[in-house]
Order: sequence, then C-alpha cells, then structure tokens
Amino acid sequence: MKDTFYITTPIYYTNWVPHIGHSYTSLICDVITRYNKISGKQVKFCTWVDENSQKALQSAEEANMKIEPYLDMMADKHKAVWDWLGIEYTDFIRTTEPRHHEFVREVLQKSFDNGDIYEWEYEGMYCVWCEAFKKDDDLVFLNKTSKETFPISPKVKESDNIIKVCPDHLKTPDIIKEKNYFFKLSKYEDKLKKLYKDRPDFVMPSDRFNEVIAFTDRWLEDFSISRETNTFGIKLPFDESQVTYVWYDALFNYLTVCEKPHLTPTLSYEEREKLQKESSAFWPADLHVVGKDIIRFHAIYWPAMLMSAGYELPKNILTTWFFTVDGQKISKSLGNVIDPVEFTQKYSKDLLNLYLLSSFNIWQDWDFDQSQAVLTYNAKLANNLGNLVNRVVVLSLKLDENAGKLDWKISNTDMLQMRIAMVELSKEHMKQYDLKWAIDAMFTFLSVLNKYTDETQPWNLLKTNQEEAREVLYALAEWLRQVWLCLYPFFPEKMSEMFEKLWLEWYRESLENWWLKELQDRQETFHIKEKWNNLFERIEVE
Ligand code: MSP
Repeated sequence: MKDTFYITTPIYYTNWVPHIGHSYTSLICDVITRYNKISGKQVKFCTWVDENSQKALQSAEEANMKIEPYLDMMADKHKAVWDWLGIEYTDFIRTTEPRHHEFVREVLQKSFDNGDIYEWEYEGMYCVWCEAFKKDDDLVFLNKTSKETFPISPKVKESDNIIKVCPDHLKTPDIIKEKNYFFKLSKYEDKLKKLYKDRPDFVMPSDRFNEVIAFTDRWLEDFSISRETNTFGIKLPFDESQVTYVWYDALFNYLTVCEKPHLTPTLSYEEREKLQKESSAFWPADLHVVGKDIIRFHAIYWPAMLMSAGYELPKNILTTWFFTVDGQKISKSLGNVIDPVEFTQKYSKDLLNLYLLSSFNIWQDWDFDQSQAVLTYNAKLANNLGNLVNRVVVLSLKLDENAGKLDWKISNTDMLQMRIAMVELSKEHMKQYDLKWAIDAMFTFLSVLNKYTDETQPWNLLKTNQEEAREVLYALAEWLRQVWLCLYPFFPEKMSEMFEKLWLEWYRESLENWWLKELQDRQETFHIKEKWNNLFERIEVE
C-alpha cells in the first residue's frame, strides 16, 4: 500500500442539517484530502453523524417521528449536503451502525479491565444540548426580559427573571443525581503532559494548544462516561443498565472505520483479511479537524482514552474558530442559519470555497458576510485570475503563425525561479494545513503576473515583435498552468475545465492518479483553439 493519509471531520449531530459553519470544517478536510491524494497518498476521509444522543431523541419527538426513520432521514440530508458541495469523503459513518456499537463495547471493556473506569454517584448540572455536565464557571446569567447574558457574579442574585443558563444554548441545565461510570482522566496527567512536550504541533494553531496545556496544568478531573437515564445508545458491556454517552461513543468512531471495515457476507476469508489489514493501516489518523468548542475533548480526553485502550495517538488536531452571522452566533432560534446548498445555488461553489478558505484565518471568529463573499470572488477569481486567463487566450489567438499554439521555453530565468518558489511555498503551506496562506500565495503570484502583463504589453508586441509576444504569452500560460495545479484541490471542477481548454484534458485523470509532482515538473505545449466563455463571471453585489 502507498503512504496513507487519514483525515476526519467532527461527527456532526443530526438534530439539524449542516449549516455554513459545519461546511467550513468539511471543506477544509476536502481540500486537504484532495491535496494529499494528488500528491500520491492513499487517502481516507471520513465524515459522519453523531446519532446516539438525547437531543436526537428530542428532535425526533419534536418532528413527531420514530427515532429510526428520523435518523435515516437526517443522515440522508447530511449526505445530500456534502454530495452537493462536492465533498469527496471516502466513508460516511453513522454511530448507530452495529460495527460501531461492537467496537465501542470492546474498548470500554478494555479500559474497565485496566481499572480506568469506575462507578460513582454523581450530582450535578447537565446540559442536554451540549451533552455535557456543567459547573457554575461554565454558565452565564440570562435576563429573561432583556434576553441579555452576563457573567455569573456573587453580586447578582438568581431570581425568576435572572437565571443560570448554558452560554451556548441559553437553556437551564437539568439537575441530575444518578449513578455514573467515570473515566480516570487524572491517572493520565503525566502522560498527557509528556505528550504535549514531545509533540509541540499536536494541536494547531499553537494558541489553542497553549490553552489546552494551561487547562491540563490547572486541573484534570475524571469525567463521566455513562448515563443511567439515557435510553438510546451503546450499553456498557459491564453494566447494561447504563448507556455511554458522547465521548466514548463519538470519538471512537474515528477508529471504528479502521478497526471494523464494512465486511459484507459475500467476501471470502482472504478478502476480509486483506480489507481488515488495509483499513487498520490508516490508524493513527493524520489529522482531526475540529471546532474550538470540542478541542478539549479531542486534545485531552481522546488521547487519554486511546492510551487506556492501547491505541496509538492521532498525529495532529487542527482547530477552527467559529462563524457568526451579523455578529450573532448561528442558531435556529435566531433564524440566521445560512444553508450552504441555497447559498451555492444562488452564487457558486467556487465563491463559497474561496470566501471560506481565503478570507478567514482559522484562529479567529469571523462574521460571515454575503456581500463581502461576492466582492472577494469578483476581486480574486473573476478579476485577478479570470481576466488574466482571458487576456492570454485572446492574445494568443492573434498570433500570426500557429495562432493559439504556445510551445516556447521560458527563457526568463528570474521568472522561472519565481515559479519554483511559488510552487514550493504553496507546498509548504499545504503541508502545514495552512490553506489560507496557500491560496493567498497563488493570488499574490497572479497579481505579479498581471503586473508583468501590463509591463510587457503583449498586445503591442503582437504588432512589433511576434516572437517576443509568443514568448511572453507562453510564459504566462505556463505560470497559469502552475497556478491551476496549486489551486486544483480548492476548485477541482473549474481547474479541470481550464486544463481541458488548454488541450490538457488528460490532467484531471492524471491528478486523480497522484501525479501532481510529475505534472508540475513538465513543460507543456498549449493549444488554444478558440475564445472561451469567461469561467468566472462577475457577480453583482446586492
Ligand atoms: N457531535 C459533536 C462532535 C463530536 S466529534 C467526536 C458536535 N457536533 S456539532 O454538529 O454540534 O458540531 C460539529 C462541529 O461543527 C463543531 O465542532 C465545529 O467544528 C463546527 N461548527 C458548528 N458551528 C460552527 C460555526 N458557527 N462556525 C464554524 N464551525 C462551526 O459538536
């Protein structure tokens, strides 16, 4: 088997259809997967739905449906969104699948046998919507009349109007007193600290990692892994009256796909063995992409749970921040949810990809602004890239001899050096999962190419020196080819169309067969046969 690359999205809850914020993590995974695939890796890209949850039960009830058909419907809706957005996952897993239940019970039993899981009577506040126990520090005061929230302080008294709520869901947590099983996180404190020291890029970006480390330095409390009152989910193998919730259930999904591939009954023994071996080769995962809201679970609980069950740890965790809309958290109750399918139907997938991946640093919260998205698209794809392509096409067709055929070598060594530097820079950024920098590098290079075109004025050269005009146009076409190769993971459809138009219709297949480097190292002959329609039409800002 070739080098493997395994990447995961968070496991999305199914009580709603993915919105623009969820698309962000999936898009990041998609681009990174495509890049690794064309660079020669055997990729596994898993996305999923987190189904064993009380909130799924509640949502099914609200929809007046039985849980099973509700979950089937929601899983189909999730898949439909990803398929529409062109997210090319290799596996779509549901946590209700029997193979997942079987696997989670196996790991729970291992940790129980190790003495890492114990029983305890627990009393505390529990937010069903976060599926998490809460402490006072985790809550805020809500003024029911003004709907304002503010930090809890001893100076303010609780009343009918001032209540303590979860800051994310603005709901009062339930008070719960029940028998729970707990995971001995405290036992792993030293090992976790060693992990963070030995692997300084375990969590990216570093600011988030520092927060995780600071949290670990302060306090590592054992955490509850089961509920007595939950009815829906995976039963503990050592106490069937309890159901595990959220973290054992959701996190181990990342491993289920490697440890328990789909084995259909028609497979022979040898085929099963082969599949099993191939799947397990993907662990440890190369990258988990998660939102900042769940980084602690991924960076603290998850490695400890893996150590306890005897598995290797994932290589990296990339943390994304959150989008707001009009400065507000995206929420159904506020009615500000942006549906990525509607959005891309109205504009385009390229516009969404460009805006999400080039406008926001992943280490900051940002406001999603539709007009800004259009302006970014017009400036970068329609003007910077689209106009230059049009110029090269139109001018090449005006060459006297062999119009549209460009087959000269680049003789300007400075420019050749610049091209190499640009490709290297893009490669470095992609390896660091720095998509914004990778894409920025391309558009900066395109600005340089536009400037070069203005300076060399090939439209004048066509009249005075055809040979020089051909050389300039060849250079531009060759640099564009390089830019398209670097931009391919971001805009696979449009870049393939561009290659086709330049007589390079075999590029897509070659890229899908891992040939990025070979294509980057080639020097092509281009054949432009006719004027093209603009591939990136300008969009009017509303
Ligand atoms: N099921 C848990 C995750 C378990 S992973 C083992 C969960 N699901 S979720 O559907 O509520 O959210 C999943 C992820 O969606 C978040 O971690 C975050 O990455 C992403 N986002 C949700 N809202 C978002 C924004 N408004 N902006 C950006 N990303 C957002 O938590």
